[in-house]
Amino acid sequence: MFNFRSLARIASVLTTPLAPEDVLALFNPVYSSRQLRGVVTRVVQETAQSVTIFFRPGRGWHAHLAGQWARIGVELNGVRHWRSYSLSAPAGQDPAITVTDVGSVSRVLVRETKVGDILFLAPPQGDFVLPEHPRSLLMLTAGSGITPVMSMIRTLVPGRPDADVVLIHSSRGEDDSIFREELFELADQFPSFRVVQWQTGGRGRLSLATPAELERICPDWQDRTAYACGPESFLDDAEALWNQAAQEATAGSLTIERFHAELKGRDGSEGGLVIFETSDREVMADGGVPLLDVGEDAGILMPSGCRMGICHSCLTPLLSGSVRDLRTGEVRGEPGELIQTCVSAAAGPVNLKL
Ligand SMILES: Cc1cc2nc3c(=O)[nH]c(=O)nc-3n(C[C@H](O)[C@H](O)[C@H](O)COP(=O)(O)OP(=O)(O)OC[C@H]3O[C@@H](n4cnc5c(N)ncnc54)[C@H](O)[C@@H]3O)c2cc1C
Ligand code: FES
Repeated sequence: MFNFRSLARIASVLTTPLAPEDVLALFNPVYSSRQLRGVVTRVVQETAQSVTIFFRPGRGWHAHLAGQWARIGVELNGVRHWRSYSLSAPAGQDPAITVTDVGSVSRVLVRETKVGDILFLAPPQGDFVLPEHPRSLLMLTAGSGITPVMSMIRTLVPGRPDADVVLIHSSRGEDDSIFREELFELADQFPSFRVVQWQTGGRGRLSLATPAELERICPDWQDRTAYACGPESFLDDAEALWNQAAQEATAGSLTIERFHAELKGRDGSEGGLVIFETSDREVMADGGVPLLDVGEDAGILMPSGCRMGICHSCLTPLLSGSVRDLRTGEVRGEPGELIQTCVSAAAGPVNLKL
């Protein structure tokens, strides 16, 4: 009987004009020696705007920790775009992502993914993970920010009846509250897990600007190890509240996962001609547009991950010129310096090794 390695050797001899890679992919669609892939095994509609996509990854993947995320590549008009998605499945089970339709890539994933489709993948990463010895936890989530926390809850709650977990989840209404039924079922089944669903449609926003709401919902919030994931303003308020409590030495730790970052220095700055040296392309770039977007729009294969300056997957050598950090407005340009293309824009002519 042939194993996959013998098949690969035979394919390399017999496959002209197809590349061995392509022939092997006919036998096993997740096979690729160059690019990790996964095949979609199930798609579950969660709300009108979101789906969970289960997939079977190929070689090169490793098991995820609850709360981690993976990069997913999707081809749009012949260009592969990478986005990061938290793995919503519990640790130790087949991976799944839960995607909400908010833009170009998520729309394709939510509206068009079918069983049998191939996803381009990068292995799980991230340090938004459960503590080694979880005792009393507070999870604060809003919208699609529930996804990494759902993986934590699914992993922890059924397996550790002594873990005391309070989840406060905010959504617009019942219909767009992802995992709502499952969360209530878990809370019924495991008394040490408490869920508070906060619907902004009826009650207005959950305010974290002061501790008042939190004290009312979860009086011992300061004694708990906290995790938060949701929109920028929600996380900024949570961070400020915990920082304030830390000054008074009253609160436990808060770990935050951000899905996107506000790039402040986007308007009004002068850009320049960007030369992508390896790809032999030149593009005029606006001074407010990340070089990652400039390259992708020009059809250049750009390395990327989080797209918000945290993962360093997009680091690229600057051969010459100056770039502006869109988070801080700082301009710099040492030849040979590695720049994060997702948060850097051209500040005059730029030459990149891409
Ligand atoms: C570590 C990490 C984990 C993530 N996990 C998930 C996840 O589990 N599920 C998920 O749906 N997304 C998740 N995201 C966001 C995801 O990577 C994409 O940014 C998102 O799907 C939008 O991509 P797009 O191409 O559809 O939209 P784009 O066309 O790139 O952007 C459209 C607009 O939507 C904004 N936006 C981005 N994300 C959100 C959001 N979640 N809610 C509202 N507006 C948003 C962008 O700022 C932009 O203005 C995660 C991001 C990171 C960095
Ligand atoms: S893509 Fe993550 S830092 Fe740039």
